[in-house]
Amino acid sequence: MADFQHVHEVPPEGANADWTIPQNWEAFNADNHRMWDRLFTRQSELLPGRAADAFLRGIDMLKLSNSGIPDYRELNARLEAATGWTVVAVPGLVPDAVFFDHLANRRFPAGNFIRSPLQMDYLQEPDIFHDVFGHVPMLTDPVFADYMVAYGKGGLRSLRFGALHHLARLYWYTVEFGLIEQPDGLRIYGAGIVSSYAESIFALDDPSPNRIDFDLVRIMRTHYRIDDFQQNYFVIPSLEFLLKVTLETDFAPLYANLKALPDIAVADIVPQDSIVTRGTQEFAASRNKKVWFYRSKHGL
Ligand code: PHE
Ligand code: FE
Repeated sequence: MADFQHVHEVPPEGANADWTIPQNWEAFNADNHRMWDRLFTRQSELLPGRAADAFLRGIDMLKLSNSGIPDYRELNARLEAATGWTVVAVPGLVPDAVFFDHLANRRFPAGNFIRSPLQMDYLQEPDIFHDVFGHVPMLTDPVFADYMVAYGKGGLRSLRFGALHHLARLYWYTVEFGLIEQPDGLRIYGAGIVSSYAESIFALDDPSPNRIDFDLVRIMRTHYRIDDFQQNYFVIPSLEFLLKVTLETDFAPLYANLKALPDIAVADIVPQDSIVTRGTQEFAASRNKKVWFYRSKHGL
């Protein structure tokens, strides 16, 4: 824990009972805004043709192309008009139940700091760029917006079954690292990918990772990496499909069944997999340097 400056056990001084704090936009300095602009420019140039249409529409709709760290007063006016969601600032990682409660109420908690220039590609905790650039554009899409609400409610429910670690994998392989099959080709929509320059290329173009069709139980059995590019990506046919299958499935019996099913290691293929591309896994095998480290805040 000592490594993570922004982890707290109880709301720190000055935070509200729900862990929110004022964004205090005026407190960001010119370097902070420049950092946002550098990251924003690099990703916006890379993502057309790579990111999902819903994500690119979100970027346009939020007018995030205004320079500097977005002021949530302005950002939230646009976001709330689209789907009723808002972004709220929090001091860092928040407890699971707090996180889920915010999602269930259409509030996305965002860490209130931005990385330093030495952390362009390597970051231990989600910062404003990951949380706002990565997550918020998708929240302008009505279907994805509903998925995130359902996920928040499902998260609270999973705690009662002691099944958070299974549900956390669903978040990981959709919200953070999901791929989508559009009529015009495979695209990225996961926030962990779209906020990372190198993984935005790797996830679509590299021969190393497996790309496998979305399967709810399969995903909830699958480990994931938090210290490097993924060795598995899961592909949804559409956002509507993702929402429908998760909303219409009662997870309680799945959680019960999962107790008896073995976990699946990150790079493994199982007989029932519908494979989009079978990875060579050569990248993982040759790897000794971390590029992207995302500390899991959702239960694993
Ligand atoms: N239907 C799920 C349940 O019964 C809730 C859920 C919805 C979970 C969407 C994740 C995503 O728990
Ligand atoms: Fe995230």
